Amino acid sequence: MAGIKDSSRGGFSNKIGFVLAAAGSAVGLGNIWKFPFEVSDGGGGAFVVMYLAFCFMLCFPVMMAEVAIGRKTNKNAVGAFTENGHRAWSALGKLGVLTGILILSFYNVVAGWALGFAIEMFAGNFELGQNFGAFIGNWQLNLVFSSIFMVVTIYIVAKGVSGGIEKASKILMPSLLILILSLMAYSLTQEGAVDGVVYYLVPDFNAITFETAYGAMGQAFFSLSLGMGALITYGSYVGKKDNIVTSTTMILLTDVGIAFIAGLMMFAFVFSQGLQGQGGGAGLIFTVLPGAFESIGPVLGRVIGGFFFVLLSFAALTSTVSLLEVPVAYVVDEYEVRRERTVWIVGVGIFLLGIPSMLGNGTVPFFTEFVQYSSSENPVSFMDFIEDMASDTFLPLGGFLISVYTAWVWRGDNFKKEVEIGNPGFGDSLIGKYTIFALKYLAPFILGSITVITVLSKFF
Ligand code: PHE
Repeated sequence: MAGIKDSSRGGFSNKIGFVLAAAGSAVGLGNIWKFPFEVSDGGGGAFVVMYLAFCFMLCFPVMMAEVAIGRKTNKNAVGAFTENGHRAWSALGKLGVLTGILILSFYNVVAGWALGFAIEMFAGNFELGQNFGAFIGNWQLNLVFSSIFMVVTIYIVAKGVSGGIEKASKILMPSLLILILSLMAYSLTQEGAVDGVVYYLVPDFNAITFETAYGAMGQAFFSLSLGMGALITYGSYVGKKDNIVTSTTMILLTDVGIAFIAGLMMFAFVFSQGLQGQGGGAGLIFTVLPGAFESIGPVLGRVIGGFFFVLLSFAALTSTVSLLEVPVAYVVDEYEVRRERTVWIVGVGIFLLGIPSMLGNGTVPFFTEFVQYSSSENPVSFMDFIEDMASDTFLPLGGFLISVYTAWVWRGDNFKKEVEIGNPGFGDSLIGKYTIFALKYLAPFILGSITVITVLSKFF
């Protein structure tokens, strides 16, 4: 089969396998849960414009760089740098492994909420939207849901790359897309939806600050699974004949497309229910959607609502699988230990690390009011803190370092050669020239400066 390079490590059965799996990694809670509340926190349309600009202008080149590094070296996020002859840079891979661990720890908790909501929607509990605070404060229940989620993730990762990841994404991703498109169409027929569309699409440029740019940048990296070596790891399973440019383009368009549609749907619902301006934060979709499903009708609303959260859980699953794969591939490759046992140990460890995130939703005051930033009025919870650190700071920092590494250390010419194996003429094309320019100058400058300025103002 084309695409398999080293049968002992496994590989994707063909190009579509890689694209689906990487798109599966990208599409997840980031698109449907995180994107809408980040837009809402970031002031609407202006955030959307910045997010799109980051995705297309900066993340796209960084994405190509990650996949090329992975394919060139056929190694995990840490080993790839050593294999390429730059041992010191494996520290960047280790930052990625740490980031993956931190993200998975809270992501798994939110995935547990989605699972719980699926059950509640099927049961017709449309009031759950108003009772979201009580729902997340019930830590025993959340412990059950998130442990189910982690066990399923562990099981799939333990089965190896092509067996589990590929099969799941082939069926479920298209179903999710169809459901969101239908819900979007429905949301736009609701009264007041137009105001939501205006809020979402018409930018108020006064809303642009370093802090919102930082949020949009973090969101772009998070949503594309970028900046922590997930795509180095997945790229290591890509065949030499595959075209990295078209593959990454497909992944990018799928991910951004789904986030964009989900956002449109959400703001149409938010405004038609008169819930705007409530600053829902991380609870936004969970407070708004049950009411939207109820409006569809008592029976159909249950079925659609239930399926929506089932598919959202599956989208989250293809992302948790990729998050767990990063530390696992690192440990298995570098320490030559058995895959199965490693997956369980790492997975359970990350689950335990997520417990403070679960307890920080009102159960334990210490985790609920975990840190006080100098830039904000109220203290933030343990989960918000981990999220801010890992997704808004470490991912763009990782993206910054990957750009510098690719353009200046590995060197643009070598990167170009790797991409050209499956895409002759890349170096002379407009995309090729732009990519090298972006990796050399644009990405290091923009990612570096926004990260430094915001971190200094936020935390100090
Ligand atoms: N991109 C995933 C999502 O949007 C989250 C993720 C981040 C997965 C980083 C892997 C690596 O849900």
